[in-house]
Amino acid sequence: MCGIVGILSKNNDDVVSDIINGLEKLEYRGYDSAGVAVVGDGELKRVRTVGKLNNLADKLKVNPVKGGVGIGHTRWATHGKATEENAHPMVTKDVALVHNGIIENYKELKADLLQKGYGFTSQTDSEVAAVYLQMELDSGLSPREAFREMIKAVRGTYAFLAIFKTCPDMIFCARNKSPVAVGFGDNMCVGSDASSISANCSEIVYLDDGDYAEITKDGATFFDSNLNVVEKSRVAVTDDLVNSGKGEYSHYMIKEIMEQPSAIRKTLLGNDVPRDFFKGISRILILACGTSYHAGLVGKYWFEKYLRLPTHVEIASEYRYRSPVIEDNTLALVITQSGETIDTLEAMEYVRRNNVTCKLAAITNVLNSAISRSADFVFHTEAGVEIGVASTKAFTAQLTVLAKLAFSKNPELLNQLQNLPQVCENSLLLKEDIDKIAFKIKDCVNAIYLGRDNLYPIALEGALKLKEISYIHAEGFAAGEMKHGPIALIDDVVPVICLCPSGNMFDKMFSNIQVAQARGKNVIVFTDTTGAESFDGSVEKIVLPSINEELYPILYSIPLQLLAYMVTVLKGEDVDKPRNLAKSVTVE
Ligand code: AGP
Repeated sequence: MCGIVGILSKNNDDVVSDIINGLEKLEYRGYDSAGVAVVGDGELKRVRTVGKLNNLADKLKVNPVKGGVGIGHTRWATHGKATEENAHPMVTKDVALVHNGIIENYKELKADLLQKGYGFTSQTDSEVAAVYLQMELDSGLSPREAFREMIKAVRGTYAFLAIFKTCPDMIFCARNKSPVAVGFGDNMCVGSDASSISANCSEIVYLDDGDYAEITKDGATFFDSNLNVVEKSRVAVTDDLVNSGKGEYSHYMIKEIMEQPSAIRKTLLGNDVPRDFFKGISRILILACGTSYHAGLVGKYWFEKYLRLPTHVEIASEYRYRSPVIEDNTLALVITQSGETIDTLEAMEYVRRNNVTCKLAAITNVLNSAISRSADFVFHTEAGVEIGVASTKAFTAQLTVLAKLAFSKNPELLNQLQNLPQVCENSLLLKEDIDKIAFKIKDCVNAIYLGRDNLYPIALEGALKLKEISYIHAEGFAAGEMKHGPIALIDDVVPVICLCPSGNMFDKMFSNIQVAQARGKNVIVFTDTTGAESFDGSVEKIVLPSINEELYPILYSIPLQLLAYMVTVLKGEDVDKPRNLAKSVTVE
């Protein structure tokens, strides 16, 4: 949940601006504070600030630092509040270190270091790693020996970068569960993901768990957890990694919403389902978090209806702690945009450890991510780099893969999928109509989303979109569930956003809406031309293009994404970097 970047100039050029540029690509991972440390002219120098990266860039204008080797960090606070004292890099007399992850044994290490007379200036767990390195240096070890001792002593999850005052031609990095990519180019680079270093590199190596690397001006040497030198395959940097800017859009989120037809089209082109993919499979277990979990809920409707395979969808962070029964011949399908969500990764590994007959497949947007590298089979959502913290194009691309899987034995429905990109393109034309709804609800404190059948998960997803970027408390419900309690929430103010297109569930949903209308005055309906004929002027209507009702979840997600986006813009909140959140949740 933090972003880390390190750069070593081959010609001793100043690296600070490249580090800041790299951190800009990583702000989606966390933005509570930021900092940079360099070694230059034999000195170790650091500048850091609370708040977003702009604050650091402004401070560097006033207090510039220069150096040929440096590391930077943008933070999502885990241990210790978002203050300057807790901002990385953590530094000691001779060491600067940045960390993404959680050191589980930091308390015992800290107690030991305190007993040895070392002091601390922060409440973070990460500082323990920096002070541990200093202690080893003070005992006479070299930077390499000190770094090896530190990663042996630490338990937990980490992506570490460390530089040493006495060793200005090296960066040390290590990975356990938190991603690290090493870049080869005009300079040597290292970062949390490829996008943060792609501007300076032509090839990239991804570290595996337990690996550590020594980066020098001549390249990098990689070691496994037994300190054996290992060869790592290099991946060419692709254009979409380099050109992942906002373009003419004001926010990444709206750019990514508008890219959905193309993301769906590309995802449809790939991801052919092997004929024997479900051979021997007697049930499906879907593991995911957040928006990806909502995609899994949609998948359940499709898998059970069209493949007749019992399908269980589990919140990954809950799954492995409840001693679940894992039956033989289960397809464990993990859904994850980032491929780095540790809750999902650990749930997948739990299945692998506890039943070897299971098949582990991943639906992910990031190839070479931890989950994609660990799964037996990977479906790649071709959505391109998704920067906005609120997932949009990756979500509809996930649904597209799930549809291809579920409809793999239904040529007629597979054919219907081909119409999807164009129909989604048409739904984006509703932006103006949705803007009017956004204006109406932007000052609400609460909001209710209702859906039935395969649109119930989309009610949950629409509510998550609104709450996570506008901070309006929104809840999604199965419409039929309202009469069992939640209907008490309806008053004349709360917007009740209802997904009610024509089709099998229309009559049931229509009567649920009547019940809501009898108790409130702010009912908003997303429907289609046929459905719209049944609603009078007492409700606000957004009329979407018609499509096969099995594909409603993909189409009806888009206007709800637009609604959340527009409400947030009208409220003046930060669409791409909402408070307290991060794009990739790599801590439990
Ligand atoms: C999506 O809008 C949220 N930011 C969040 O719920 C996200 O879906 C969740 O953290 C899972 O991330 P993943 O898909 O990368 O595993």
